[in-house]
Amino acid sequence: MRVLVTGGAGFIGSNFLLESVPVRPQDHFVNVDALTYAANIQNLDALRGATNYEFHRLDLRDREETVRTVERAAPDVVIHFAAESHVDRSILGPAAFIESNILGTFHLLEAIRTRPSGSVLFHHVSTDEVYGSLGPTGHFVETTPYDPSSPYSASKAASDHLVRAYHRTYGLRTRVTNCSNNYGPFQFPEKLIPLMIRNALAGLPLPVYGKGDNVRDWLYVSDHVSAIWAVIERGRDGETYNVGGNNESTNLALVERLCRSVARATGRADEELLRLITFVKDRPGHDHRYAIDADKIKRECGWSPTETPESGLARTVDWYLSHQDWVASITSGEYKKWLEMNYSERTGS
Ligand code: NAD
Ligand code: TYD
Repeated sequence: MRVLVTGGAGFIGSNFLLESVPVRPQDHFVNVDALTYAANIQNLDALRGATNYEFHRLDLRDREETVRTVERAAPDVVIHFAAESHVDRSILGPAAFIESNILGTFHLLEAIRTRPSGSVLFHHVSTDEVYGSLGPTGHFVETTPYDPSSPYSASKAASDHLVRAYHRTYGLRTRVTNCSNNYGPFQFPEKLIPLMIRNALAGLPLPVYGKGDNVRDWLYVSDHVSAIWAVIERGRDGETYNVGGNNESTNLALVERLCRSVARATGRADEELLRLITFVKDRPGHDHRYAIDADKIKRECGWSPTETPESGLARTVDWYLSHQDWVASITSGEYKKWLEMNYSERTGS
């Protein structure tokens, strides 16, 4: 199989390639990525020398270059990770989200639709955030109406609709996965878990939005990787599959847990880290709760998560502790400015 991966230098894409390329020597992987601030091509150093892997820089906003790249790659399967992915950034600057997530997906779909061979399988990697916010009970199912709250989730919702429309209108072979919050190695430290680990290690404030009572369902990234393969191998065309970890936590409980975990690993007192927790102004349009019903992917594709919340978080804290150079290497200039801007937006300081 020739597999075209978009956004493979980002968090989930890196994990996907690192876990897939070495164990699938019969498949050839082409990774295309614009290398935005969120990407880090060094994540993929371990693939140097792999004969079944190649990288090309491509900005999906460039329609002609996207068509040329898809032609050259001649894929059997396209796995579309590339996107602007951070809600807070989408609030401060939505344009890039519209351009990369909606137009970029459109360009890719067009490049596939106009290929002579009509049998390419397009796997679209999406998010549970398209469904909006839940109250204290209930779960998102695949038929839950879309109700996105942020420019990020609205742009992902639009791209999901395009993918489905290309299936119904043009008969493109498409599959969509809507996944809950991921965590694990190589996540850019502006997202909750890596940000809290980094700040706890540095003795910096741990900014919890609002009262910290928002609930997310956390999935270890390797379980997302196996879910995508399960849907590619055993899913059905034109279908959507929800993917989740059955691992709900309020943000505050999660941050407290991370504090204890980092304290234990570094020999510090819990209290020293817990007192860094700082409640800051809430995110506008902050969805209260996400929770996934992942019964369909279990039933049809035989997938369930394998990492427990305890083992996944322990592995993640260990990884960030032993990769502080990685964190330092990407958290300079632009990142620091962004963090300061986001922090002052929330604290008024
Ligand atoms: P990320 O921000 O870490 O990585 C995104 C990658 O896409 C980066 O390498 C970036 O350079 C690339 N990219 C962005 N715009 C591009 C463009 N115009 N052309 C080419 N490449 C471009 O994101 P992630 O967390 O790895 O998420 C990957 C996908 O999974 C996204 O589509 C996201 O919506 C989805 N998703 C993420 C989560 C999560 O918790 N992180 C959960 C569910 C779904
Ligand atoms: P995030 O990692 O940005 O993912 P998403 O917004 O896609 O769910 O945030 C996860 C949760 O953590 C979300 O409810 C917002 C909250 N949060 C904080 O409380 N403080 C922070 O510094 C960040 C980045 C997020």
